[in-house]
Amino acid sequence: MLRTAVLVSGGGTNLQAVIDGVKEGKITNTELVRVISNKPGVKALERAEKAGIATAVVSKKDFASLEEFNDALLSAIDEAEPDLIVLAGFLVVLPEKLVKKYSNKIINIHPSLIPSFCGVGYYGLKVHEEVIKRGVKVTGATVHFVDEGCDSGPIILQKAVEVQQDDTPEVLQRRVMEQAEWKIMPQAIDLIANGKVTVVDRKVKVDLK
Ligand code: GAR
Repeated sequence: MLRTAVLVSGGGTNLQAVIDGVKEGKITNTELVRVISNKPGVKALERAEKAGIATAVVSKKDFASLEEFNDALLSAIDEAEPDLIVLAGFLVVLPEKLVKKYSNKIINIHPSLIPSFCGVGYYGLKVHEEVIKRGVKVTGATVHFVDEGCDSGPIILQKAVEVQQDDTPEVLQRRVMEQAEWKIMPQAIDLIANGKVTVVDRKVKVDLK
């Protein structure tokens, strides 16, 4: 069983897709051991509690310095003894210590086709605003391993989604979630849990047999 911790900051619809995936048997060999949020009271925590998953809140506001917050975050993760850490809308830059300790064991979902519309400042609705501003016709989502950079780690899965002429950022965000994020995030976890993902030379090989 792949002990999986999920880190969240908000609505938790990707977390829900993972919870449902485990329940419905689309994600196998996986146990959701802890959901950690950097914000108290968010819907994602409610979703975890409803599914009977242990939760923890590590908020920057409760610590005097960024270093103390980072240490507390690392402790909350270590306590869960995870084999995999899933960033499901976790809008905090991970400390280098954490990334190094869990090298190739942290995955993130990003709401665009990396390397487009990613990097510093590109998160949540902002990504979709920029996509619409630029007028691209195709966007999508990416699941990737997390390295020391911002959205720069090895890419595991991507899925394209069409941009419609009259899209608002909110409408486009919803389409990208429905058609891409809620599919490739559970799929990536299932592939990892079943030993079908390897990283060679910073490139991911997926055994899709
Ligand atoms: C998702 O669209 C996710 O791709 C994005 O935040 C949203 C969280 O939604 N993540 C990023 O932008 C990371 N750079 P959710 O809380 O409903 O899953």
